[in-house]
Amino acid sequence: MAVCDEFQGLAEQFSAGFGNRRPAWLVRAPGRINLIGEHTDYNGFPVMPMAINRAIRMAVAPRDDGLVELKNADGSLYGDRRFALSDPIAPYAAADWGNYVKAGVQSLVELALSQGRAVGELKGMSCLVAGDIPPAAGLSSSTALVVASALAFSAVNDMEPDRRAMAERMAEAEHYVGTQGGGMDQAVCLLAREGEVLKIDFFPLRVTRVAFPRDYRIVAAHSTVRAQKTGESLLAYNRRVLECRMAVCLLARELGVEPPERLADLASARPDVAPEGMVGLLKRVLGRREGLSLGRASALFGIQPGQFAQRFLRMANGRLLPMPGDGLKVVQRCRHVLSEAARTERAAECLACGDLEEFGRLMDESHRSCADDYEISCYELDQLVALMRGAGALGARLTGAGFGGFAIALAHRDRVEAITHALDTGFYKSRRVPRTENVFVFQPAPGALRQRVG
Ligand code: GLA
Repeated sequence: MAVCDEFQGLAEQFSAGFGNRRPAWLVRAPGRINLIGEHTDYNGFPVMPMAINRAIRMAVAPRDDGLVELKNADGSLYGDRRFALSDPIAPYAAADWGNYVKAGVQSLVELALSQGRAVGELKGMSCLVAGDIPPAAGLSSSTALVVASALAFSAVNDMEPDRRAMAERMAEAEHYVGTQGGGMDQAVCLLAREGEVLKIDFFPLRVTRVAFPRDYRIVAAHSTVRAQKTGESLLAYNRRVLECRMAVCLLARELGVEPPERLADLASARPDVAPEGMVGLLKRVLGRREGLSLGRASALFGIQPGQFAQRFLRMANGRLLPMPGDGLKVVQRCRHVLSEAARTERAAECLACGDLEEFGRLMDESHRSCADDYEISCYELDQLVALMRGAGALGARLTGAGFGGFAIALAHRDRVEAITHALDTGFYKSRRVPRTENVFVFQPAPGALRQRVG
């Protein structure tokens, strides 16, 4: 098959970088924005993302020596990497870009082994990687890299994993880099279709497709605050996962049931207890003051602080979360998750029946809950949200994990210019950063692509 325009330059650069070889496969894995349903996925509640037209692209050729060799089209930022296939594949140092590739590859090596193949039989690959998703901005550039790597590896090894199974597998795969994320990013990357927003339910993964209205746009504006998936942000994210886990255990005890995995399981086990009822129960146990110390938290469970840490503060990468300085906040985290879950269900109905005013209102509410209860916003994100709202957006909110990154707004296409103008004058000009590199206008884009060439 011919190389389409999108990949032309990359295919040529591949040949120049890899001794005149031609790529055998081209892969694209898009970034995403999430319209509503934030920090709900790992709690088993739905999300509503869409893919964007910014992606990780790879040109790929198989190798017979069991090595994975990576070059980046933007070599100045990301140096070359090379590693051997093995089981398991040892990670590079934390925050190394090659770890996202290793995460995707390691997971498919495991799949191949489970299907009776041996590591020595598997093909390695030479990959040239390019991307135009702003990194560390909450648009899921790292998941796109994990997914692209796995698709590339599956291609050179004649594996045809089902997309849905692959989405679930990739969510697990990403724990390799230490985040305890849910499954949203991987699912939308692999399952999105042009023009559609996905409502995704989890455990098991289910996708409902909702057409995005033609005359509307998503304006996305960068807060210029980096939201790394490493360091402080990683801890801040994992901390919330663990606070929710505590909420599950405390509520299960109050409700007299065995603690299930997630808040959503608890909600479906006890449909007679409304979200407000759940929050009320927690308040009764924990009192009004948020911010549990280690001593108070362990006393609540009748165990020693060391045992508490082992049980509740262990992250997916095996390390213990340092006790947050402001204590563990269980009531407000639970209130956000349960109210966000209800908003997401309602938002899906609104989008399906074209009630965009209400959809926008739900986005606004979601932002407030993310800011006040989940504490994942920041000054710059709040400012962007206010500016876009003031300039005629139907609703606006932060998107993704938070702690920086992008804010998004839903707007009629006739309002887009006014919104970008307001962002320019009210935010970017005073910071002396170009608006053009920080504001994007999106409609739902297609999901990942794996194409044979040559
Ligand atoms: C990150 C994670 C997702 C999800 C969002 C917050 O993007 O990778 O699984 O939890 O944060 O909604």
